[in-house]
Amino acid sequence: MASLRGASAFVTGGGSGIGRAICVDLAKHGCHVTVADVSDAGARATADLAGPNATPVYCDVASSASQEAAFADHIRRNGGLDIAVLNAGIPERGDLLSAQDDSWRPTLDIDLGAVLDGIRLASQAMAPAGGRREGRQGVLITVASAGGFFSMPFSPVYAAAKAGVVHATRSVAKPLLERNIRICALCPEFVDTPLVAEARAQSGPQSPFYRATAGTLLTADKVAEAAHVLITDPNRVGQCLVLRMTGEWMEAVPPSQTLQYIPRPATSTSPIVPAWREWATQGLAGGRTTRTVMIRRLSNDFRAATRLETRPVPAPGPGQVLLRTVYAGINASDINYTSGKYHASTAAAEAQLPFPSGFEAVSVVAEVGPGVKHPRPGQAVATMVSGSFSDYTLVPARACLDVPGPSPEYVALLTSGLTASIGLQECGRLRKGETVLITAAAGGAGQFAVQLAKLAGCHVIATVGSEDKARLIRSLGADRAVNYRTEDLKAVLRAEYPRGVDVVWESVGGEWFGTCLNALAQKGRLIVIGAMSQYKGPDGWKPMPHRGLPEKVLNKSTTVTGFLLLHYTHEFRRHLALLISLYSAGKLKIILDSPEHVGIKAVPAAVDRLQSGQSSGKVYVRISEDPLPPVGAKL
Ligand SMILES: NC(=O)c1ccc[n+]([C@@H]2O[C@H](COP(=O)([O-])OP(=O)(O)OC[C@H]3O[C@@H](n4cnc5c(N)ncnc54)[C@H](O)[C@@H]3O)[C@@H](O)[C@H]2O)c1
Repeated sequence: MASLRGASAFVTGGGSGIGRAICVDLAKHGCHVTVADVSDAGARATADLAGPNATPVYCDVASSASQEAAFADHIRRNGGLDIAVLNAGIPERGDLLSAQDDSWRPTLDIDLGAVLDGIRLASQAMAPAGGRREGRQGVLITVASAGGFFSMPFSPVYAAAKAGVVHATRSVAKPLLERNIRICALCPEFVDTPLVAEARAQSGPQSPFYRATAGTLLTADKVAEAAHVLITDPNRVGQCLVLRMTGEWMEAVPPSQTLQYIPRPATSTSPIVPAWREWATQGLAGGRTTRTVMIRRLSNDFRAATRLETRPVPAPGPGQVLLRTVYAGINASDINYTSGKYHASTAAAEAQLPFPSGFEAVSVVAEVGPGVKHPRPGQAVATMVSGSFSDYTLVPARACLDVPGPSPEYVALLTSGLTASIGLQECGRLRKGETVLITAAAGGAGQFAVQLAKLAGCHVIATVGSEDKARLIRSLGADRAVNYRTEDLKAVLRAEYPRGVDVVWESVGGEWFGTCLNALAQKGRLIVIGAMSQYKGPDGWKPMPHRGLPEKVLNKSTTVTGFLLLHYTHEFRRHLALLISLYSAGKLKIILDSPEHVGIKAVPAAVDRLQSGQSSGKVYVRISEDPLPPVGAKL
């Protein structure tokens, strides 16, 4: 269906979340939309948003009669039906395994039964009396879920219902096409809607579901974009489109119309849901070797400096633990490390060559050496020691920091989160009501600096390099986002903050340092976190001359402080626990850059991504190419 203008669409569950975004999009493109929902208020609110092309209609999909009446009403008003989006759904109800009754049943009835009924009603409305539809092709979209493909230990009935929707969609694709109706399924991962909010509230902060949905979720608008493509692209038939939280679209089913049933011999004896403990040692099964990204020569060109090498995995000695890396973090300073900048001198760095790269990871303990009581095998830990770009690392047990699980969010809280938390506390000494300027605010550390400054009650100005990043940083609480590609930071500060700013979080360097220094108010504090703009270039990090620095500092009684995280190791445990508790309480968001980089060979590409300035939030690499245990697997 190339154009939606003049077509008519029926959307169940249009009164909220994904359904609402789809209704608004269809109406915007000239489609006459019936917003069918059991919530009158929700349906009306959507119709108000969508404008005159949208009509709210009461419809309880749990009742076949109610859904039939709503379809009939649509056909009366529009003279036919072109598009139906069967979207209404509810989260898991009751607890299947401990319920004494069938309190779980509404989930199956609404999320599967009502969708099957909707397929029946919509296809009969599009091709009356089972005949072939003439003229414009009909389109049916079922809203299933990525949960239709993976097991959801916390929502088994929901997963069963969604798997049913996927399978029904595939099964009817061919017979419906013979009636000139296309059907496809939308299968999003977690989306930021009231449905997820309700399920989170029910499951509580310690649950695997709560943790699985704690990061950056898809937005309903992104799902509506995918729905738009499925509706308008005539080549999509029977497609089950999985929308990843990383932003990727993946096809879950081959677009074949002749699905084959090929049973295979069950040769695998591994458990269905491997626990993390098994996963951590399974990588040792093929021989005790580990791959490590080694620095062979000093250079700020990461690719030129490093080589992937395979070496034996040593057994842990007394007081040591062997870790299997799950996620490793990427930092602007990785290229300072490869150029030897964190050694006492270039000569000292050269003398140590070759040495391993990467300095932060979240891992799972594979083995522990004699005398180690904590951590235990299978436990998730964070480390901030050299060599994290490796399959396995051997570290002292005392270097392991506790984290609730092996998730990339906790990698973000390491160098990035700790730099913001410790740096602002030790050097920023923020007071409520002060004005704070955060540079590179959409970066790994900047995102936390913005949020922590807001939590401290400050007014936050944030510099970013794109409109998307400006939106992102405003969503984290920034009061003023300055897109330096379209606005002049100096002019903004002069016009809008004539008194100056009290604290600057400066990580860009170069000319920016001067601009930020001049912007300080009396007794202002400037924290030098880094000088990212100076790291690159053929000759590496070259010092900048800053004329008049002593005079400027004196004239306004300002302070310029350097902050290097390495000097604050004694604060790591306390601040990491603090950040984790803020995150668990929903007071701190963690933005992860997407798409995810997978496999140790992807480390250089991830370093490039960070250096390109295109990334938003924390850049990280999933080190292992092996599939990870599913969400909720035992630690
Ligand atoms: N939010 C997610 O993470 C996510 C992920 C994958 C799939 N989905 C699916 O997307 C669909 C929409 O979910 P959402 O996240 O937008 O949820 P939502 O709660 O924001 O919206 C669901 C809408 O369905 C309506 N509804 C519920 N029961 C109904 C009934 N019996 N009759 C008619 N309307 C009814 C609600 O009133 C609400 O307006 C659901 O099928 C859901 O399972 C959601």
